Amino acid sequence: MARRTKLYEGKAKVLFSGPEPGTVIQYFKDDATAFNAQKKGTINGKGVLNNIISEFLMLRLHDIGIPTHFIRRLNMREQLVREVEIIPVEVIIRNVAAGSMSKRLGIPEGTVLPRSIVEYCYKSDELGDPLISEEHITAFGWASPQDIDDLLAMSLRINDFLCGVFTGIGIKLVDFKLEFGRIYDENGEMRIVLADEISPDNCRLWDAKTNEKMDKDRFRRDMGGVEEAYQEVARRLGILPEGGVAELQLVENESGDE
Ligand code: TMP
Repeated sequence: MARRTKLYEGKAKVLFSGPEPGTVIQYFKDDATAFNAQKKGTINGKGVLNNIISEFLMLRLHDIGIPTHFIRRLNMREQLVREVEIIPVEVIIRNVAAGSMSKRLGIPEGTVLPRSIVEYCYKSDELGDPLISEEHITAFGWASPQDIDDLLAMSLRINDFLCGVFTGIGIKLVDFKLEFGRIYDENGEMRIVLADEISPDNCRLWDAKTNEKMDKDRFRRDMGGVEEAYQEVARRLGILPEGGVAELQLVENESGDE
C-alpha cells in the first residue's frame, strides 16, 4: 500500500491525501461525539454504514444536477472525493422543530414548521458552532452574497429531493446539516460543491408512522439501539446486504486497505 499522508482528523472522519492531485480520501470512523465532543463513544459499524449511505445520497444528488465533492467509494470505510476549500459555514435545513431550535425558541419537538427554515452556523469547534446570520457571513468574508444565494438554492433543492427520497421509505427528514466547499478550475474559476457527508450523524430522521428516532439523537440522548437505527436507514434505502452490517464488515476485513 502506498504511504499516504494524513491531512486532518475530525471527530467522525479522517482525511488522507488522495492518489491524484486535487483528490482526498475520506475515512469514516466508528467514533461518535456529541455536544461539541463533551460526550464521546463508539457506534459499531457506523463508519461503514455512513460511508454507503452518504455515497448513495451524494450519487442521487449528482443525478439531479447538484455538484458534489464525491468521486467514488474505495472500500467499506473510504471514499475518494475532490479536494475542496471548506466554506466555514454549516447550513442547517429544518422541516420539523427539534433539537437546538426547539430549545432556543420554545417550539415543541415535532411541530411541523410553516415552511422549511434555513439556519447558518459558524464552523468552529472552539466556539461550539454558533448560530450566525447572513450579515456575519458577508461582513467577515466567509462567503459573498452571490455564494449565499447559491448555498441557499442548492440547500433547498437538496431538501426537496431528500424529503422525497425519505418519504418514499417511510422516514421524515426532520432536519439536517450540510457543508459546502470551493473548487477552482485551471482558469481560476470557482465553483461551490456539496462536501462532507449526508448520514444519520448529521440528519434527524424519524419513522413516519411512529416518530421513532433513527439517527444520532439516539446516541446524544442515550436511547440505545443506535447501531440498529443506522442499519435500518441503510436497509430501507435498499443498500444493506441481507446479512446486515456483519456482512458488510466481513467484506471490509476481506478487502482491507486499497
Ligand atoms: P441542532 O438541532 O442540534 O442544531 O442540529 C440540527 C441538525 O444539524 C441535526 O440534524 C444534527 C445536525 N448537526 C450536525 O450535523 N453537527 C453538529 O455539530 C450539530 C450541533 C448538529
